[in-house]
Amino acid sequence: MGNDSQARLAARYGAPQIAALKQCNATIDQLLEHRSVRAFTDQPLADGTLETLIAAAQSASTSSNLQVWSVVAMQDDERKGRLSVLAGNQAYIRQAPLFLVWLADLSRASRLGEQHGVELEALPYLESLLLGTIDAALAAQNAVVALESMGLGSVYIGGIRNDIEGVAKELDLPAQVYPVFGLCVGHPSPDRPAHVKPRLPQAAVLHHETYSAAAEQDVIAEYDERLGAFYHREGMKAGGWSEQVVSRLREVSSLHGREALLGELKRMGFGLR
Ligand SMILES: Cc1cc2nc3c(=O)[nH]c(=O)nc-3n(C[C@H](O)[C@H](O)[C@H](O)COP(=O)(O)O)c2cc1C
Repeated sequence: MGNDSQARLAARYGAPQIAALKQCNATIDQLLEHRSVRAFTDQPLADGTLETLIAAAQSASTSSNLQVWSVVAMQDDERKGRLSVLAGNQAYIRQAPLFLVWLADLSRASRLGEQHGVELEALPYLESLLLGTIDAALAAQNAVVALESMGLGSVYIGGIRNDIEGVAKELDLPAQVYPVFGLCVGHPSPDRPAHVKPRLPQAAVLHHETYSAAAEQDVIAEYDERLGAFYHREGMKAGGWSEQVVSRLREVSSLHGREALLGELKRMGFGLR
């Protein structure tokens, strides 16, 4: 592993002295450099970009090859504007030349059942919703890896789950389809460069053979310092990670409408047994 790779790893963990990875390559280097991009230039995407991203997305594994996901690609400024409002006024949805809404989509299977005159008894279960959600997430992340390899940037938008019925209406979604998250895609603005945000030390997330939280407190204390230092370098006033987790989850109001998801999903045709 060269000096550049060690520097990438150091940024990923906010730990300058971290030991280099023994196994590395260009793909892993690119993954280590991921950062969410929230400022885009007005440069349009090169012709064919969307089709390339979708081919990458469709190359992800999919449970039982059911392919229970779809995606809506949005380039219309007015529609992006309305989506931005639905997602809590996140301005970069308007600014990005492309906004992708990734869908868990059970409707295609449901239509096939109808065409075959067969009732799909296994469909109206929570398992199917998980299946569609996992499929959509894997597909989207493949697209993110692909777009970053093309020099583009992106940010996921979970904010569209603040009002999934509003989004469904805007996108004309049939029953049994729900928007999992959005993804802004564009050329990163050089005026507001995004930096790699350090992650938890591996000891916090990697367990050997069985789960153990024994060393967790020390490891998290270390991370609180590293992330705090990162925010300080970014000129942001923010505490450590622990503080963030607790304040993000302490009140239902932080869900911004997502506390109503279960009822919304049921109204949108999901069985959820
Ligand atoms: C499913 C999902 C939803 C997200 N939703 C939002 C969002 O609505 N707005 C936003 O600015 N960032 C959103 N993010 C980006 C995260 O905040 C970001 O990935 C995290 O802070 C780590 O930063 P990094 O991606 O730069 O490493 C989302 C990320 C994921 C995976």
